[in-house]
Amino acid sequence: MNYFNSKYFTYKNNELYCEGMSLKDILRETGTPAYVYSQNYFIDRYNELDSAFNEIDHNIFYAVKSNFNLSVIKTFADIGGGVDVNSEGELLRALKVGVPNDKIIFSGVGKTYDEIKIALEKDLLMIKAESEEELVLINEIATILNKTARVGIRVNPDVDPKTHPYISTGLAENKFGVDVPTAIKLYTERDRFKNIDYTGIDMHIGSQITTVEPFVSAVEKLSEIFLNLKKQGIKLKHFDIGGGIGVEYHHERIFSPSEFAKALIPILKKLDCKVILEPGRYLSANAGILIAQVLYTKVNHKKNFIIVDAAMNDLIRPSIYGAYHHIQPVQINKSCKDISADIVGPVCESGDFLAKDRNIQECKRGDYLSVMSAGAYGSTMASNYNARRRPPEILVNGSSFKVIKNRESFEHLFFEEYL
Ligand code: LLP
Repeated sequence: MNYFNSKYFTYKNNELYCEGMSLKDILRETGTPAYVYSQNYFIDRYNELDSAFNEIDHNIFYAVKSNFNLSVIKTFADIGGGVDVNSEGELLRALKVGVPNDKIIFSGVGKTYDEIKIALEKDLLMIKAESEEELVLINEIATILNKTARVGIRVNPDVDPKTHPYISTGLAENKFGVDVPTAIKLYTERDRFKNIDYTGIDMHIGSQITTVEPFVSAVEKLSEIFLNLKKQGIKLKHFDIGGGIGVEYHHERIFSPSEFAKALIPILKKLDCKVILEPGRYLSANAGILIAQVLYTKVNHKKNFIIVDAAMNDLIRPSIYGAYHHIQPVQINKSCKDISADIVGPVCESGDFLAKDRNIQECKRGDYLSVMSAGAYGSTMASNYNARRRPPEILVNGSSFKVIKNRESFEHLFFEEYL
């Protein structure tokens, strides 16, 4: 079998480590299933992307939806990152760890009245608007609060990001943003929106995008709008290129931050404004793993099954997107042969699998398996289905670790529920 090895998750004497920390030592304390993150991965990816764009005025706003653990948000805030939030809950998380208001952007296709109100009260850097009706509401609430709302319109450029249909967001058929003619109309109808200050323009065309071309086409379309508005005296301060940078889950060849910057900087440079990047997955996916323990193995009608204690409620990506996550043993045992098996959880659905027909070292009850690339959209999409408690999260730095979220208690499962 193949092993997913990196500077951050590596084998020492056939045993998997996160940075300088033995995973087995962590698991003795926390049990399984458990998410484990490398703090230096988060920091290194942030710095790598940041320096690739050094030539132009820019800021990285980490999309916290990919991993909103407070310690993860704080890791980025401590090195100068802003955040992109998509709900009041995400906003409160960012504020709780002390992210300054002018380093927060509020996104989302369906913000509620209360969400717009709190975004205005907290004086966030920018609210993204995704429809004419939303602009009307933002203007109305800003008028009541006697404030001027800083707004960027999310434009749907109708560009194919060539990714999974569930995470494509920049096609005409998708619910996100407004089309180009509507955006131009809204930007130029400023008299209708007296309490709105248009400070930016925004796009986010999809997620897990593996080539630069869709970004280039979309940035070209939006920069045309930007420059046309400038000619009409509407000078925007921010150009937000969204998130979406793909990562390696299974030998994908992804562009590097410098290739990304090289393709976009020539277009962005002409705009003379601050460029905002909103990556989530790029900063977090390969920072994390989910460790599970083998409960049972069995052969059914000649098919091998490895039943582990992590399930679709802990990591739903394989079930809903058919996503590939590499799975490898925490302890390599060279004397064991490789088999092909489905690696499945205890939930009562056939859709509950972490891998299908996967080549893996033969294992036995009690062995630990590591599900790789689980730092993004893993823990944040976990649920309590089957009344299962969501797993703990552990942050490793060098040869020390910290439990940054406990496994949920059983009391948690009854919380705010009444007879
Ligand atoms: N900005 C906005 C407005 C977004 O909607 C998203 C992600 C991002 C930034 C960050 O995108 P990223 O850099 O992580 O690709 N649950 C799916 C991914 C959904 C992405 C939603 N929006 C998955 O597990 O693949």
